[in-house]
Parts: sequence; structure tokens; C-alpha cells
Amino acid sequence: MSLTENELASIRENPYRADFPLLAGNPGLVYLDSAATSQRPRSVLDAALRFYETMNANALRGLYRLSVEATAATEEARSRIARFIGAADPAEIIFTRNASESLNLAARSLGRLLLGQGDEVVISIMEHHSNLIPWQQICAERGATLSYLYLDEDYRISEDELAKISPRAKIVSVTQVSNVLGVANDIAAIAARAHEAGAVCVVDGAQSVPHIATDVEKLGCDFLAFSGHKMLAPMGIGVLWGTRALLEAMPPFLTGGEMIDSVSEQGAVWAPLPAKFEAGTQNGGGIVALDEAIAYLEGIGMAVVERREALLARALADALSALPFIDIVGPAEGERHIGSVAFNVRGVHPHDVASLLDMHTVCIRAGHHCAEPLLKHLGQNSTCRASVALYNDASDIDRLVDGLENVWRVFNG
Ligand SMILES: Cc1ncc(COP(=O)(O)O)c(C=O)c1O
Repeated sequence: MSLTENELASIRENPYRADFPLLAGNPGLVYLDSAATSQRPRSVLDAALRFYETMNANALRGLYRLSVEATAATEEARSRIARFIGAADPAEIIFTRNASESLNLAARSLGRLLLGQGDEVVISIMEHHSNLIPWQQICAERGATLSYLYLDEDYRISEDELAKISPRAKIVSVTQVSNVLGVANDIAAIAARAHEAGAVCVVDGAQSVPHIATDVEKLGCDFLAFSGHKMLAPMGIGVLWGTRALLEAMPPFLTGGEMIDSVSEQGAVWAPLPAKFEAGTQNGGGIVALDEAIAYLEGIGMAVVERREALLARALADALSALPFIDIVGPAEGERHIGSVAFNVRGVHPHDVASLLDMHTVCIRAGHHCAEPLLKHLGQNSTCRASVALYNDASDIDRLVDGLENVWRVFNG
């Protein structure tokens, strides 16, 4: 559905861009690759710097003031993150480097707890490699089978497909939002079906947590993985949320440092949550900056972020659909997209499209988007992908359209 005059007016305004130094310092830059990594506001960059300037010490490792302050800042961040995703218990928030590490943690530790010969792990065909390869690896190691949920012609996982989850399934792991197609899965339905089959439900929230209000209680899942760098925080900080019962039952992933209660020559007793899963020195600057990124999003309000980004995604899908030489890969309706729209310029390789757009300072992604099985399933080798965040506005989409018209002219005289 096309945007109304009022909707269009709201995305012509942009009260956010000035907060982001990289964008404010490059007025001509059109950044449409936030699904790969977002930009960061000044307040987040300042928070990371402030950590190193005012409280740099190893959290949990000292009894002096600085270390106590660093520990307090880490735990405040943990509490804010728990609230942000609707988790009741901050001890269920595990800091990692990124969503990939969170998913590796889930796969290895859950796999060792739950998987045996002949068991099954179920994922969807739309998974990013980070929610696919860890399961391939652990299945091979434990003698388990990796099965897939496929998409119908409308890019949805149908109820019939979900009904295929068998009692042999011990783990179901799916993305909430596809990093290629931008479509969302009905996680509540998938989690309910997984539990009915007796399986644990892991959710890859890398493309959803940055864009839509998240409530793990409502989702009904057991684990949620996401990355700070896609939600306005720096690179190198990620999160895995899991239910206390499962986290307590699982063996640790990485070992060493403060993740123990005690160590003897031949064994160790694990520390309580969350330390059990946080081996080695943590990314203090990244943790406080993620805290600040969430404070920034909460200051705007996730409902406002969600509404603006939904309008931007609709405007993007509408603009691309209106170009006769563009094929959208995925649903044409803008309402179906969260953040990303994948497309091709007829007869032009996506890498050529991205390189030519770059000459107009328009940044998009081109390639297989770390989702090779999905692309193969869709009969594609690679695609272009444009993705939006709250700091984009309608002029970015106009500039993309101008750039794409130029690409078409270059290749078609
Ligand atoms: C859906 C999805 N899952 C996982 C990841 C991996 O995130 P990271 O590179 O931050 O580990 C990405 C990154 O693009 C993603 O889009």
C-alpha cells in the first residue's frame, strides 16, 4: 500500500541523522546497509570512550574503586538489556562478541546437553550461515540430523511445514527476520510447535531486536541471540539470552578466567550464571556502549523506531517496485519487510550495481548475504540488498532510485 501524504511527510523529516557523526560529517552519503552494521550515535561513541577514560579496570577482578565501578556499569547494562527484551532475570543475559558467537554458544552447549545419535535439529532455509554452520557442526559431531523448514511461494513457513517437526527434534533454531528477504517469521507459533514436539526453541534476533520491540515472554522461545553492532552499539559486543533452567543445565562453551567457582588440578566447578558463560576479560567499553545504544533507542521509543522503519521499508519496496527494470526478491508488499529489501537489476550483476551506486555515494550490499542455501532455494546466485534504519529518510530512497536509473542507463545505452 502506497504511503499517505502524512506518512511520506514524516519520513521526509529526519531528526536523527545529526546524532550520527559519520552521517552528519558526510552530508552526501546514503547509507542503506544497516542490516550489515548500523551507524552509531555520538552518545554511544562517547560512552565507550568514557569507560576507558573514567572507569577502565577489569570488571569482577578487583576490590578497588575502579574495578567496582566497571563491574557496576556492566551489571547495569545487563539489567537494561534484560528489560529491553522482556527477560525477567538479568543473570540470563550472557555477553558474547556478536550474534555468531551467541549462536555458536547455543549450538555447542545445547548440543552437548541434548543431542545424541538419531536426534534432529530443525532450522529454516532462510538462516544466515551463523545460524546454520554451528548446527551442521554439532549435528555431525553428535550423530544428529539437520532438517530444514522451507518457505511457501509467499515466503512464509506454513503450518503444514511446521507440522513436519517430528518428536525426534530436540532443537528448533530459526531467525525472527530474514537478513535477505526482510520477512518476519511467526516466532510464537514456531516456539509453540517446537515445545509441542518436545524441542527447545532458539531464535536468531540479529535482524529483529534492532528494529522491533522484543519480548521473550511473548515470543515464547528459550534462547535469543543478537549483535550490538546492528543496533547502534560498537562492533565486538553481542548477547545470548536463555532461560535460567537451560543455561544452568548446559555445559560451558568457552572456558578460563572468571567462569569458575574453583579449580583443582583435574577439574573445575563452574561459577553461577552469568559468569559460567563469560570466559576471559569482557568487552567493558562495548558493554557500556550497548547500554547507551539501548538508552538512545528507548529515548526515542521502540514503537516510534518501529513505525518509522516500517514506513521507510514500505517506501523502499514501493520505489523499487515502480522501476520497470527491477525484480524484487521476496514479497513485493512493503508491509512484509522489516529493514531489508532484496532485488536485482535485470541483466546486471549485483556487484556491478553496488559498485556503480558507490560512485553516487549510495551504499548497498550485494552478494549471497551469508545465506547461500536460501539463495540457492530461490534460484539466485546473488542479489542486491538495501536496508534501512531510523536515521534514513525519504531522500535516501530518492537517491537510490536515481542511482539505479543510472545503472540501467550505463548497461542499456
Ligand atoms: C540474521 C543474522 N544472523 C546472524 C548474523 C551474524 O551477526 P554477526 O556478524 O554480528 O555475528 C547476521 C549478520 O548479518 C544476521 O543478519
